[in-house]
Amino acid sequence: MIAPGGDEIAEFYDRHPYPPPVTDLDAEVEAWDDGIRRRVEHFRMWPSVPYRDDHTILVAGCGTSQAARYSLRYPNAQVVGIDVSPTSIAATHQLIEQYELTNVELHDMPIEGVASLGRSFEQVVCTGVLHHLESAAAGLRALREVLAPEGAMQLMVYATYGRSGVYVMQEYCRALGVTPTPEEITDLISTLRELPTGHPISHMLRNTPDFQDDDAIADALLNPRDRSYTVPELFGLLGEAGMRLGRFVRQAPYRPQCGALTEVPHGERIAAMSESDQFAAVELFRGTMRRHSVIAHRVDSPLPDPPIRWSEDAWRSYVPIRPTSVVIVEENIPPGTDAVLINKAHTDRDLVFFLSTNERRIYETIDGERPIGEIDGATADLFRRLWDHDLVMIDVSRRSA
Ligand SMILES: C[S@@+](CC[C@H](N)C(=O)[O-])C[C@H]1O[C@@H](n2cnc3c(N)ncnc32)[C@H](O)[C@@H]1O
Repeated sequence: MIAPGGDEIAEFYDRHPYPPPVTDLDAEVEAWDDGIRRRVEHFRMWPSVPYRDDHTILVAGCGTSQAARYSLRYPNAQVVGIDVSPTSIAATHQLIEQYELTNVELHDMPIEGVASLGRSFEQVVCTGVLHHLESAAAGLRALREVLAPEGAMQLMVYATYGRSGVYVMQEYCRALGVTPTPEEITDLISTLRELPTGHPISHMLRNTPDFQDDDAIADALLNPRDRSYTVPELFGLLGEAGMRLGRFVRQAPYRPQCGALTEVPHGERIAAMSESDQFAAVELFRGTMRRHSVIAHRVDSPLPDPPIRWSEDAWRSYVPIRPTSVVIVEENIPPGTDAVLINKAHTDRDLVFFLSTNERRIYETIDGERPIGEIDGATADLFRRLWDHDLVMIDVSRRSA
């Protein structure tokens, strides 16, 4: 089955595979070697479910390497990759051969036709794809149909406000009839170099990988179909497909209790809003989010919602885990502070966490095994704040177990 309009997109990604094909995934193997990442990712998706690494995983719109990456990250899992771009599938096949991967299979098929596999998956990964579909809701509904009831999806869609410069330049390219040929792309790169300072796209040109090669520029500016989502539109998309938000992959940028928003005079008003309205308000305050990455579950999922309840006594049995992306910084910190925690996965510079001497000692005691109640001097408030700031992942499963 070819998706409605699928030909155009398939043809585009066949000529401009994205991300650019790679031949070396050694860094990926090394980064996932110690197993901590697998644990962190598991509890990001399923805080209340005991750890496992042998899930069935669908990588939908897998591009040039994502299915091979998942196969390497999760050697005990069964991975299926689907995509409509034969070039991208071929690039993944090459990685499969090179790394002798035996737990992954690939299919040249559209997301909208995934039911024809006759399979169901515990995890569905679909990043950077839904916003290119003719109907993102229809694509997401098709994915929901193959998601196990207790399963989890990891989704990434473009965010509207932070990409405004991209849409300005897409409009420019459309107005001039720029097409994605090699000559036109070279001319476009020369044009981008001459953009005036302060153009809404200039920040992205300097700071993101989206503009590092010709295919990346084509993907961003000459894509035949690309839409974006505000936070309320994202909730709308999930709802239309029978899905609900589990959490944002990185939640601190969306929380008013993290970073610069704690200093504004609107704190009380924002605190009085519903959680989803808070997320929408913070997106507007930040103004620069370029994508939304979320964990989502079926609305009829048997998993507890929310899985983590700080207001109840159960927090003592929660097991905190330190993500490997968190660093403890001691240089250039304010007086009276012992250290600062930074999650390197955050792009917003205001999301720092100041630690007193005692809090630092507690943070350094976290070993991924001991529950909070057994960590001397630990309080629910400290761990809730660490969790809000993406500085710990929480394993709630020991209580459920
Ligand atoms: C920007 S790439 C993202 C690749 C990958 N998910 C990643 O994050 O590395 C988008 C991919 O979606 C694929 N795609 C677009 N429409 C699709 C559809 N209807 N069904 C399956 N794949 C699709 C494209 O061929 C392309 O490989």
